[in-house]
Amino acid sequence: MRAEIARLRAERKAIILAHNYQRPEVQEIADYVGDSLELSIKASQLADVEVVVFCSVDFMAETAKLLAPDKLVLHPDPRAGCPMAEMVTPERLREMKAQYPGVPVVCYVNTSAAVKAECDIAVTSANAVKIVNGLDADTILFVPDRCLGAWVQQHTEKTLILWPGYCPTHNRILPAHVLAARGAHPGAKVMAHPECPMPVLDLADIVASTSGMLRLAREDPAAEFIVATEEGLLHRLRTENPEKRFHHVAGVALCPNMKKITPEKVLWALQDLQYPVDIPADVADRARRCIARMLEASK
Ligand code: 13P
Ligand code: SF4
Repeated sequence: MRAEIARLRAERKAIILAHNYQRPEVQEIADYVGDSLELSIKASQLADVEVVVFCSVDFMAETAKLLAPDKLVLHPDPRAGCPMAEMVTPERLREMKAQYPGVPVVCYVNTSAAVKAECDIAVTSANAVKIVNGLDADTILFVPDRCLGAWVQQHTEKTLILWPGYCPTHNRILPAHVLAARGAHPGAKVMAHPECPMPVLDLADIVASTSGMLRLAREDPAAEFIVATEEGLLHRLRTENPEKRFHHVAGVALCPNMKKITPEKVLWALQDLQYPVDIPADVADRARRCIARMLEASK
């Protein structure tokens, strides 16, 4: 299967991009693996490529299409969605905006293109604090992740009005899990993703995006880490740092949607050019502005 994927990738002039939470066997066939900000930047810089196979959930494949509108962007399983992204719709967001006229709306990149079209600027977990602090306004609507929003709120003087969305996978991680893991691995450093609930973040040594955690694991002298995020990240952590030890905080945090992408589906995507991401032009133009502002502000 790997040989056939490699052959078709060359024939189609394709690139395979994968998020850090993808299955190990998908990460291994990808040309590039990263967090949502790195994948967005990559998608905006593709030359000599005609087809992008995007291994992740749907909003990330949409973001790639927004940033590479002239490429054929394929999502190997369109049923791989993000429940948090689905917790906000353009209609509900317009209702909220009507209650706060003139207040800018910041959206986590975990939103549909239709929601981004209603927002002023996007953020990822890697740049959210920097971007919110760089905005002119004192009050900001933040959608949809109340956990990331609460963490940003701790790092800004501005007032954030939070949408009540959350990641079901990260919200399965509880403070009791962190305490138990610390007891089992005394001396290990705890790193947590800001999609975790605040009582978990309060117990962490470092709060970071998935690539922030990979950087930390490389650069920090600690030899042992407890990891509070989706479990797929452990593959890269362990492969890139074979001399260090990584323990998942609880073994309760698999994102079933991220795991829907398999090597077979990547092969079928390349064989049949399935499933193309298509965004209506009026939505795409407005959503692209929201993402482009984020890329500009995170330089
Ligand atoms: P990052 O990779 O940007 O940290 O985001 C994690 C995530 O929620 C993907 O669904
Ligand atoms: Fe969505 Fe959470 Fe899965 Fe990320 S880990 S895709 S935020 S449900």
